[in-house]
Parts: sequence; C-alpha cells; structure tokens
Amino acid sequence: MIHPGFSRRQYLKLVSAAPAASALAMQPTSEADRERRMKWWHEARFGMFIHWGLYSVLGRHEWAMEQEGIPVAEYEKLATQFKPKPTPAKEWAALAKKAGMKYMVMTTKHHEGFCHFNTSTTKYCAPKTAAGRDLVKEYVDAVRAEGLRVGFYFSLMDWHHPDGARCVKDEQARRRFVDYVHTQARELMTNYGKIDVLWYDVPWPLTAEGWESEKMNAMVRKLQPDIIMNNRSKVPEDFDTPEQRIEASKGRNWEACMTMNDSWGYHKADDNWKSPKACVRNLLTCARQGGNYLLNIGPTADGSIPPESVKILTAVGAWTAKNGAAVYGTDPCSVSRSNYMSFTRKGNTLFANVHFWPGSEVAIGGLRSKVLSAKLLATGAPVKFEQEEFRVKFTGLPVNAPDSPITTIAVECDGEPKQDMNRVREERPRLQA
Ligand code: GLC
Repeated sequence: MIHPGFSRRQYLKLVSAAPAASALAMQPTSEADRERRMKWWHEARFGMFIHWGLYSVLGRHEWAMEQEGIPVAEYEKLATQFKPKPTPAKEWAALAKKAGMKYMVMTTKHHEGFCHFNTSTTKYCAPKTAAGRDLVKEYVDAVRAEGLRVGFYFSLMDWHHPDGARCVKDEQARRRFVDYVHTQARELMTNYGKIDVLWYDVPWPLTAEGWESEKMNAMVRKLQPDIIMNNRSKVPEDFDTPEQRIEASKGRNWEACMTMNDSWGYHKADDNWKSPKACVRNLLTCARQGGNYLLNIGPTADGSIPPESVKILTAVGAWTAKNGAAVYGTDPCSVSRSNYMSFTRKGNTLFANVHFWPGSEVAIGGLRSKVLSAKLLATGAPVKFEQEEFRVKFTGLPVNAPDSPITTIAVECDGEPKQDMNRVREERPRLQA
C-alpha cells in the first residue's frame, strides 16, 4: 500500500493522468510524515465547523440557491445585504474555546461561489462587496488569538461560476475553471500565514484527474508543509469525513462532521436542536474509536451565533472543562458494552461516561482487567468498587447523577482495559437443573 485506502495501481493511474506535475511533487506523503502532521489533530478530538455565506441572509439552509432554483443574478444581490458586524469571528473563537474545541474550520467559499477572502479571481467576494473586508483574515486572526488551530473549508463545486457545470463537457471551460479554483487555493494557502487544515467539499462534476487534484494538493503541501487535508478532492489524502454519522474508517484517520440542528448554514426555522448530552455523547463515541468530532454552527448574516447553539456549546464546555481527560489525547478503546454509559480510554485508565445515571450503583460486565482505583473525574472524589469475576460494581454513589449532562468515572486498571462479553455469556455459572 502506498497510502491507506489507495492502491499502488490507483496511485500510478493518477500520476500518469496528470503529466503536468513533476514526479517528485506527486509523491504521496509518507505515513511517518502524516503521523507527524496529524499529532495535534488526534489529540484535539473536537473542532468547530462554521457555515457562513450569502445563504445566511436568507436563513433557509445553505442549499437554498439550488433547492429553490434561485437565478444567479437574483442570488448575487444578496451580496449587497451581507454586512457582518465587526469581527464576529472573535465570538465564534471564544465560544469554540469555551466549548473545549481545539480547532475551527470555516467556509471560505461554499457551493454558492461567494468568497469570504480577497481574491484576484472574482469580484464576487467579501472585500469587494457590501462586507468591504477580508473575512477570512478576520477569522484567522480571531482563531489564532484564542490559541486554536485554523482550518479552511473550500467547496470545489461552484453554482455561480459560468464554467462550474459545463467544465465537465467542455475542455476550455474545464481549463478556465480549474485554473480559477487552483488560483484560489493558492491564495488561501499563501495569504493567511500557517493554515492547519484544508477541508475540501463536493468535487462535482469532475474527477480527480479533471480537477488536477494531485497537482493542486502537491501545491498546497508545498506552501503549507504541515497542513492536513481531507478526502473530498477525490484523493484520499489525510482523513475521511463521515457526514452526519459516526462511522470509524478502517486504517484511516477520520472526523465525523455534524450539525446541531438539521442545517449547516443558518436556517431560522430549523428547531431540531440536539441536546448538550447528545453532543457530548457524539464526542465520546468519536473519541472511543480514535476519531474527531467537528460540530457545526451556522451564524446569521451579521455573524451572530444562534442563541440555541451558544446554549448547547456552553453546556458542552462546562462538561469538557471538568472531564476533558476523557476526550483529549485518548487512545482507541475496545471496551464498549453498556446500556447507560460509553467508554473512552487513556493508557490503563478506562473512562466510564455515564449518560443515563442508574442510581447508587454503576456496573460494568466482562471487564478483564483488575481495577486498582476509581474516582469521579469532575471532582476527584474516590469511588468505592467491588470486583467479581464477571462484574465490577461502583458503589456508594449518589442517587442522582453528580455531573451533567454525563458523569464520568475514571477507572484505573492494571493494564489496558479490555472487556469480554462472550465470556460472560458462556462462562458465568448457570443454575443447576
Ligand atoms: C455537504 C453539503 C454541504 C455541507 C457539507 C459539510 O457536502 O453539500 O452543504 O457544507 O456537507 O460536510
């Protein structure tokens, strides 16, 4: 394997399909280099996604232009109404920090084609329209000021550019459009200092060869040697991006991106909000399987964060502030079975994260490691325990959950915590007939 999930044959096919790039520049990054670049990201576990664009003026989801068939000339006029308040990104970054998020990924350009950054390629961008300033620069400064890592979302699909659809059938259109996109990628990678994540989206309608993705990504890596890239330029690159679901990729790095209601962009009527508990559970589910959780906000046109999102993330942050050890820098955890808790692990410590508090006793079946000690992670208060062959019980706990929305018990074991439920089923002594 030259790259996980990417066979030598596929790789050679791509290389031969893009003769413009030099063989050296086309070398996929080595596994060791990937691990070096991704170390911070694995430890981070939790990031903020931000979907913000002209669709935020409409407040009917970021796909309104396409789903409602809005003509380009009509949609473009939204740029005259897109006048954000001063530095909303400071509020986003402060909230991300408070929530316990370690990095942020903002839409620099979504499918609508409007660029938040200053670009030589089009006037359809924030600095040259009503906003009157470079919103990507403002974002980068705000994120850095909070000590968080900076990510750029960048849509390849473009509903505004005249060549954005016909590029698939017309070689001259493709040439123009690919040059347009590559120039923008170059600008993003050149004009804002160090960028930590490049998050491509929707490579419709071209193939990797059509986009010249290998060449584009080699250029990105040359300009930003430490950057990590997702898999949506039709090249696997550094990490997979399961969307609106948590699904670990085998042998690949992965990050589940999810919304807090049902929309990425601001949708004023979408009231299907997740609870803080659901968000923390999702974070733990990702962490248990070695993945990351990228949780979205959809600010309004002026950049304000919907109050529901502030409320949810504030509650999540109150939890991560006390229980971060169960999330950050954790290792994959093979213990998984319970009806009321989810597990994470760091070394020999098992974190039993109880989301449905059962009362004064909490029990884990099939644990194959010896428990040495246990405590409530949030307060450090010791927890009594009794270990039998097929069960460990944590006892003398309060009837009501001591922490919210999830109570974490840190369980120190004599080795890597392992669970064997088959053994419980097969070996637990049965009644004599
Ligand atoms: C989908 C949607 C898009 C959103 C993205 C986030 O690709 O088209 O609106 O930005 O998911 O992963």
